[in-house]
Amino acid sequence: MSAPQPPTPPPYLNSLAQGAGKLWFGTAADIPGTAEQTDPDYLRILENPGNFGEITPANIMKFMYTEPEQNVFNFTGGDYLLDLAERYGMRVRCHNLVWVSQLSPWVTDVNWTAEALTAVMKNHIQTLITHWGDRCYSWDVVNEALASDGNFSSSIWYDTIGPEYFFLAYQFAQEAVEQTGKDIKLYYNDYGLENPGVKTTAAYNLVKELQSRRIKIDGVGLESHFEVGATPSLAQQVAAKQGFLDLGIDVAITELDVRFTSAPYYTASGEATQAQNYYDSVASCIEVGRGCIGITVWDFDDAYSWVPSAFAGQGGADIYNDTLQRKPAFYAIGEAITGVPCTVC
Ligand code: XIL
Repeated sequence: MSAPQPPTPPPYLNSLAQGAGKLWFGTAADIPGTAEQTDPDYLRILENPGNFGEITPANIMKFMYTEPEQNVFNFTGGDYLLDLAERYGMRVRCHNLVWVSQLSPWVTDVNWTAEALTAVMKNHIQTLITHWGDRCYSWDVVNEALASDGNFSSSIWYDTIGPEYFFLAYQFAQEAVEQTGKDIKLYYNDYGLENPGVKTTAAYNLVKELQSRRIKIDGVGLESHFEVGATPSLAQQVAAKQGFLDLGIDVAITELDVRFTSAPYYTASGEATQAQNYYDSVASCIEVGRGCIGITVWDFDDAYSWVPSAFAGQGGADIYNDTLQRKPAFYAIGEAITGVPCTVC
C-alpha cells in the first residue's frame, strides 16, 4: 500500500474548462498496455475529474489492436479504458477507425481489390461503432488523410480505393450511428489544420463535400502538435477554427503538445515560451466560443509522452515534467481558460 497522498492543489483545469462552457479539458492515456496502467502517481492525477473530463485512448482502439485478424475483433483493451473513464465521469473520444498507420499486417500485406478493401473498411467501422455505441462521445472516423499540399496522402485506403474511400468511410459510419439510434459524433482529425493555409482549406473542402452529399460530419479535431517557439499565432489559430465553425460544425483541440526540438527541456526561458504557446492555443479555443468544445493534451507528463520515440532528440512537450511536477504551461492553460493574462509566459 502506498502512503496516503495530500489532495492535489488547484487549479483544476477540467473544472475551469467546464466552468467556461467547454465539455472538457482532457488527456490521451496509453491504457491499458503501458506502465501508465499501474503507475500510482500518474493514475492519481488522471483519475481526478477536476483535472480531466475526457480521455482519448492513445493506441488501444486503433486497427491493429481492435481487429488483429480479419473479422476477429478484440474489445478488451477499449473496454478497460472506457470502464476507467466512466468510473470518473469522463467522456471518451474514440480514436480512430481509418488511418494510414498502426494497421494489422493482414490489411497491409495483401493486394486488395478496391471492392474487397472497401468491405474491410466498412466492417471495421461499423463493428466498432456498433459495439461501443454512445460510450464513445465521438469517433475519429478518418485520421490524417491530407498531405501538406492539400491532396490526399498515400495510404492503403487511398491507393486502393481512391478518394472515394474518405466519403465512404463517413457514409458507413453514419449508417452504423443511425442503426444504434444514439448520439455519437463523427469527426475528422488531423494536424496542420491549426492555421489558415492550403491544408486547412482542403479540410474545409472535405467538410463541404460531405455536407453537400448529406453525409454526417459533426466536427474536426485539430491535433495541435506544436514546437516550442514555432506555433501558429493566437490570431491564426482563431481564424482556422472559425473557418470550420462557419461551416456549422464543431472543433476540438485533440492532441495538444508543444515539444522542444532539442535539449535542454527545462530552462526557465524555454518553459516560459512553451507556456505562451500552450496559452495561445487554449485561448483560441476559448475565443471562438462554444463551437470549440474542448481541449485534450496528448498525454500530460513528459515521462509518458510519445514525442521522444517519434522525434529523435526531442521532448519536454507536456504540461507536467517527467517527475509529474506541473510546468509553467500547466498554469498558463488555467489562465487562458479563465481569460486572464498569462503570468507565467
Ligand atoms: C501516437 C501514439 O501516441 C504513439 O504511442 C504511437 O506509437 C503512434 O501514435 N497523431 C495521432 C495519434 O492521431 O494517433 C498518434 O498517436 C500521434 C499523432
